This record gives sequence, C-alpha cells and structure tokens, in this order.
Amino acid sequence: MAAKQSSFDLNHFLATRTETVNAALDKFLPSEKTKPATIHKAMRYSLFAGGKRMRPAVLLAAAEACGGSDADAMPLACAVECIHTYSLIHDDLPAMDNDDYRRGKLTNHKVFGEGIAVLAGDALLTQAFEIAAQCKKFPRYPHDKIILEIAKASGSLQLVGGQVADLEGENKKLSIAELKFIHERKTSALLCCSVRLGGMSANCTPAQLAALTDFGYHVGLAFQVIDDILDVTQTSEQLGKTAGKDVAVQKATYPSIVGLEKSKKIAVQLTDKAFGALKIFKGKAVALEALAEFLLKREK
Ligand code: IPE
Ligand code: IPE
Ligand code: MG
Ligand code: MG
Ligand code: MG
Repeated sequence: MAAKQSSFDLNHFLATRTETVNAALDKFLPSEKTKPATIHKAMRYSLFAGGKRMRPAVLLAAAEACGGSDADAMPLACAVECIHTYSLIHDDLPAMDNDDYRRGKLTNHKVFGEGIAVLAGDALLTQAFEIAAQCKKFPRYPHDKIILEIAKASGSLQLVGGQVADLEGENKKLSIAELKFIHERKTSALLCCSVRLGGMSANCTPAQLAALTDFGYHVGLAFQVIDDILDVTQTSEQLGKTAGKDVAVQKATYPSIVGLEKSKKIAVQLTDKAFGALKIFKGKAVALEALAEFLLKREK
C-alpha cells in the first residue's frame, strides 16, 4: 500500500521551487510588450495561469536526488513546463477536447481566438528548445542528448502520438492495453522525460538514469490514471477545468474501462512500483518519494 512516512516538508519544497521556476520562466519568455504583443500575451496567459508545476518539480527533485543543483536544472525545468503548457493549449482547442476552462481560467482560445491559441502552443513548443539549448554542458549529457530527449518525448512517437490515439479512441470501446498505450504516450512520456532530464542535469550515472526512468514511467502513468479518476470524482471548481468531460464525450479512461475502484487500485500499484525504483538512491530521493505520494493523493 502506497503510504510513506517522511519528515520531508513537501509543501515548502513545492512553494519554493514553484517560485523559482516562475521567476526563471518570466526571464526566459519575451515580455508581454514585445511585438507582436498578442502572441507573447497569449503564451504568458496560459503559462502563468496557475498550473501545479509538477513536471518542473519532479525534474528538480530528480536533480537533487543525484546531487545536482536547481540552478543547473532550471532551464530544463522551464523547458518541460513550456511543452506541457503548449500541449494543454492545443488539447483544449475545439478540434481536440473543446474545453472552455483550464487552470481556473478561460482557455487560451476562448480569450485569444483559435488562431492565436494554435500559434501560442507552437511558440511555447519552440521556446522550450530555445531555453533547453541554454543549459550548461553536462559531461555525460551534451546538448545533443538533451535536445534529443525532449524532442523524442514530445513527438509523434510519444506525446503527440498519444494525443492522436486519444482522439481516434473517442466513442470507441478500447481495451485496457490500448488505453495504456495512449496514457504512456500522452502523459507518462513527458513526465518520465522530466525526471530523466533532472538526473542528466546532475550528470547522473547510467544506473541512476535507469532508476529514474523506471520511476518516471510509473509515476507518469499513475498521473494520467489519477487525472481520469479526478474527472469523475471532483467538481469543476476543484479542478479548474470542466469535470465530467470524459464521460460526456465518451473518452476511453481507466474508470470507464475498469471502474473507479479498480482504477484507484491501479494508481496505488503504479505508485508502489515508482517507490521501488528509488531504492538505489538510499534515502537521497526523499523529494521524489514525497512527490509520488502527493501525486497519488492529489485532489486536483
Ligand atoms: C493535466 O496536467 C493534463 C495531463 C497530462 C493529465 P496537470 O494536472 O499537470 O495540469 P496543470 O499543469 O496543473 O494545469
Ligand atoms: C491531456 O490529457 C494530455 C495532454 C495534454 C498531452 P487530458 O485531455 O485528459 O487532460 P485534461 O483532463 O484536459 O487536463
Ligand atoms: Mg485530451
Ligand atoms: Mg483534455
Ligand atoms: Mg483528463
């Protein structure tokens, strides 16, 4: 049963890291006044709408577990948040999930129109690579490895591929294996990539990278199972996005295929597997451990 007792102050970790990430993102992004102002306003609107910053958090926690520093990891933490935010802007478009609310505010296309929302997503994706290219050179992981890592997790074999399979799975009865294929790609891939990048920024050993990959994969898959669960159990106010949408459009989700209780059990099992992957860090991965538990128990 996933229940870890630790004196680690996760609230403090999240508050301080979120503040540092937000300040760094603010520096990396063109100001709202930079011409053409509309696109920079739109990019910043979604980026600073109040996301949980979980991908930067796991990235920084992984760096710390491997003895690295937040400063060295920061460009990569900002890069993954830009990619995540782009994926949400596009996910919400009428051509995809057609959602009106995100992060407690109107979605990007509702405020700026569909054309600008498409472009704000494109620009955030590109911005991510511009930021990542500014990270320092890590001996085991030179820039080509870092860029490849981000490109692979975001492209047609992973995040985009998962979104394609998700769209094509609407109104169809999918098997659990088909749903897992979607969730591994649309969500787990970028989370796993974030954890791995944290390790890379600390010049981690191949064994540490393998453990982080195992952790990231399982936490990432659990993350989407829980997202599916929350869509059923929470209110729109709690989530900051429209609840009950998956049922309304007959999306294939864990609760719709295996039921709510079994879905919760699967999320616990996946989180336990993630905990197991951290053994090699011998107590140095307290932040990652606390984050995995937090993600399992989250209410939004
Ligand atoms: C929502 O991600 C989309 C999924 C991949 C499940 P988050 O729940 O991390 O969204 P924010 O960043 O906190 O808004
Ligand atoms: C989103 O999955 C995954 C990506 C954006 C890549 P969902 O469509 O389930 O996310 P929410 O529920 O809209 O946040
Ligand atoms: Mg979607
Ligand atoms: Mg969606
Ligand atoms: Mg969802």
